[in-house]
Amino acid sequence: MTIVLVTGGAGYLGSSVLAPLKLAGYQPVVFDNLSRGFSQLVLQHNVPLVLGDLSDRSLLRSVLKAYRVDAILHFAALANMGESNEQPNHYYRINTVDALGLLEEAIAYRPPIASCSHCLIQLRCVWHTTSLANCEAQHPNAN
Ligand SMILES: NC(=O)c1ccc[n+]([C@@H]2O[C@H](COP(=O)([O-])OP(=O)(O)OC[C@H]3O[C@@H](n4cnc5c(N)ncnc54)[C@H](O)[C@@H]3O)[C@@H](O)[C@H]2O)c1
Repeated sequence: MTIVLVTGGAGYLGSSVLAPLKLAGYQPVVFDNLSRGFSQLVLQHNVPLVLGDLSDRSLLRSVLKAYRVDAILHFAALANMGESNEQPNHYYRINTVDALGLLEEAIAYRPPIASCSHCLIQLRCVWHTTSLANCEAQHPNAN
């Protein structure tokens, strides 16, 4: 079964993909620090919840290996426009620096074999603006 790490999966957007993922036959695993999310949004789907912060690179590395993650959906971020004006450095660290850290850990875990304008294929995909099905369709040799 394809394992999909959903960062920020206890939040508004991330939690909304859990049921569709399961329905499509994927196994989601959520990574969230619960700073703005709710564990119940994850646990109600009977999905594993790893409590952790995106800045914890060694934990990310362990989770990628322990769950044998095939794909990542990245939703762990701060999304309050007003607050971002008041705390730009904090937003930059989490939304840019820590997101880059996640990408670096993903690439170290499984080096990419192909890339396109909006996705980076490892064994499955690091997924951003397109669907996993689209990625697989565009890269049929990625496995
Ligand atoms: N809500 C929308 O309509 C919408 C639309 C388009 C894009 N987005 C983008 O999607 C992303 C998620 O938005 P959302 O509305 O779901 O926000 P949200 O606050 O509901 O969810 C974010 C989740 O990430 C977690 N999180 C935050 N920082 C973390 C960290 N450092 N480590 C681990 N977990 C962390 C929070 O606990 C929370 O569960 C944001 O980048 C946002 O800009 C949201």
